Amino acid sequence: MPGTCVIGLQWGDEAKGKLVDILTEDHEIVVRYAGGANAGHTVVSGGQTWKLSLIPSGILRDGITCVVAGGVVLDPASFIREIEGLEGRGVTVAGKLLLSDRAHLVFPWHLAEDRILDGSLSGGEAIGTTGRGIGPCYRDKVGRSFAIRLGDLYRPGFAAKLADVVAVKNRVLSAWQGDGAMPLDPQAILADSLRHAERLRPFVADTTAFLLDAVEDGRRLLFEGAQGSLLDVDHGTFPFVTSSNSSGLGVASGSGVPGRWIERVIGVVKAYTTRVGGGPLPTEQGEPVGVHLRERGREYGTVTMRPRRCGWFDAVAARYAARLSGVDELAVMLLDVLSGLDELRICTAYEIDGARTTRFPGQIDDLKRAIPVYESLPGWHEDISGARTEAALPANARRYVARIGELLGRPVTVASVGPDRSQTIVLGRSRAAPVASHAPRTPAPT
Ligand code: GDP
Ligand code: IMO
Ligand code: MG
Repeated sequence: MPGTCVIGLQWGDEAKGKLVDILTEDHEIVVRYAGGANAGHTVVSGGQTWKLSLIPSGILRDGITCVVAGGVVLDPASFIREIEGLEGRGVTVAGKLLLSDRAHLVFPWHLAEDRILDGSLSGGEAIGTTGRGIGPCYRDKVGRSFAIRLGDLYRPGFAAKLADVVAVKNRVLSAWQGDGAMPLDPQAILADSLRHAERLRPFVADTTAFLLDAVEDGRRLLFEGAQGSLLDVDHGTFPFVTSSNSSGLGVASGSGVPGRWIERVIGVVKAYTTRVGGGPLPTEQGEPVGVHLRERGREYGTVTMRPRRCGWFDAVAARYAARLSGVDELAVMLLDVLSGLDELRICTAYEIDGARTTRFPGQIDDLKRAIPVYESLPGWHEDISGARTEAALPANARRYVARIGELLGRPVTVASVGPDRSQTIVLGRSRAAPVASHAPRTPAPT
């Protein structure tokens, strides 16, 4: 069975991009299947830093086919900028990238709706979106009537359909914005769309058929998760989530590849917790620990540059995410950021209204009242960014990583000690060795 998935187990930015880039070596096809330009995935190699948004992180390697599948929402202008940015730095994109004709397009009205509506409908508390039109585009997809897919750009009725949608969107935007609303210009949007259509034409394909052929032919696929499991629209910290199934549950629906083809799910965690945007974060820390994590981890958003909120590792949340996403093994990233702290804490349970639980609450109000129960572990002061083997890590770092594995009930197979490809330690079993999909699961906590 040919599929490996890399899934974030927190609220995004777990360093999925770094891991995908490394794992690409053992795969032939890398697939982005959900989210859009809200994602910012970083790969650092040979002193160069690459920030990828819609294009799979596998694009940096030769001989790889990168697929943007139908579950992705695609802003054509930003997608073209990303292609040109890569080509400008000498990365070959032509012939390596396939783009689903089913992907829904982000238009200027989606960006406007995102700007106008965030914060106004959730009791005044903003979701703090990335402003990339993600929620409004997925809303139109589910609503169907005003949705436009990439394949529509090439159909004869496109100009008429666009004119109808722009007329409706102008009415909606002026109702929301009042007299100050700037009407969208249908002619300008049509001209931009036709230009984008020509630029993207060589990449457009039926990626669902391509991927189904690929799995049936036994080709090795790597699915690159975007966002994190706790931002999943159905099973995350709703309403402070993104608008897609960003947990492992979304791989099949977003790509069109049934779950039976997926053999190995790697759950990615930071060695601590971060979140950008609104919503509860039970283990959040201010001075001094939160500031240490933000500064040492350079915790500023890849997409929006917002400072990320930082806190201790939350094993209750990450364990829930690992179970939800069907995780076989774990990668613990940014371990080096913890160097210099005397004491490390891991949240092992919550206290909600005086009752202790290891279950992650399904309702946001309960999560807001959750008081973390911490376990304390000794820290280390050594700089570990040069470590390349498990044995080169201080004993306390090894103990900390092992404890994360125990609490999440899965083996930790990778530890990362710096942003560069080379700053990676393979633990226990070889990263190329698949984990049996029938591996025993840890019993559910109470
Ligand atoms: P993604 O969205 O999950 O791909 O993660 P991001 O790229 O948004 O954020 C992860 C950040 O951590 C990036 O700036 C990476 O270059 C950086 N990074 C990745 N692994 C490590 C690590 O082990 N140590 C440190 N210090 N930084 C890392
Ligand atoms: P990667 O793939 C971190 C967060 C936003 C906001 C919420 C909804 O880089 O891990 P949206 O624009 O999706 O409607 O915003 O989700 N968010 C992310 N946080 N990493 C991401 O992606 C994110 N994508 C969305 O900050 O709280
Ligand atoms: Mg990111």
